[in-house]
Amino acid sequence: MIEDYGRLPGQLWLDGKLLPWGEAQLHVLSHALHYASSVFEGERAYGGKIFKEQEHTDRLIHSATTLGMEFPCSGEELSQARHAVLEANGIVDGYVRPVVWRGSEMMGISAQRNTIHIAVAAWEWPSYFSPEARLKGIRLALADWRRPSPETAPVNTKAAGLYMTCTLAKHAAERDGYDDALMLDHRGRVAETTGANIFFVRDGVIHTPVPDCFLDGITRRTAIGIAKANGIEVIEEVIMPDEISRAEEVFVTGTAAEVTPVSVIGQHTYKPGKICRLMIEEYAKLTCG
Ligand SMILES: Cc1ncc(COP(=O)(O)O)c(C=O)c1O
Repeated sequence: MIEDYGRLPGQLWLDGKLLPWGEAQLHVLSHALHYASSVFEGERAYGGKIFKEQEHTDRLIHSATTLGMEFPCSGEELSQARHAVLEANGIVDGYVRPVVWRGSEMMGISAQRNTIHIAVAAWEWPSYFSPEARLKGIRLALADWRRPSPETAPVNTKAAGLYMTCTLAKHAAERDGYDDALMLDHRGRVAETTGANIFFVRDGVIHTPVPDCFLDGITRRTAIGIAKANGIEVIEEVIMPDEISRAEEVFVTGTAAEVTPVSVIGQHTYKPGKICRLMIEEYAKLTCG
């Protein structure tokens, strides 16, 4: 386990150049730290290639511009930065974290003059779980915190501020012995976990919530494509908490989670089966080739 991400060896990319990891610093009066003016991406490199790179670039630019930040470089420069960081650190299978934030020029709600910064870091993160290990599934608590409405927050971005309640929900779940938490939305509908989208299998059909107030994950869309290509019907619909018990299999998707089966949600238990296995295997084929 990594003890401190600030003290990793190697290099990362900050505002146009590679520099030693420990030298990538920002001031404590950075707007991002006080007012959450920060957006980021979570990406994976498989065999040295970023999976769905363009989609991640597009979403990062969308997140930044939605928060009123002019994107500080071109998509091409961002791509070069990712690959420079992977190469400089000798990473082939890893996690890549681009982040964009407002600097320290103005300290207050208004941030009209703050400069926009961008960094890319990467660390080793092999996709090491065998399908068998994954098929044990993770345990989800039901969170008290809910996903906000689109009138309350920019819900279709990866804005740092949106993760405040995710951390609260995840900590509460971990305190109670779970791996993660399933969150409802502001209307009380099933939404997603703290960092992944969720799917329920019933009678051979996959059901998943409509992403109208949470992230329509890149892996979510990939998983829907995999299911359809394998002749499995996928229904995007409103899912209420009392329907959770009717699922036979449950899985979550995300760049970090990839396809991870769920064995428990609150007091309900599930046995990951044929569809979970197929989704794990087909996703691995797509990412690892
Ligand atoms: C809150 C949340 N939902 C869903 C996802 C899954 O998105 P993706 O598949 O694009 O990684 C993530 C991860 O980025 C996330 O943080």
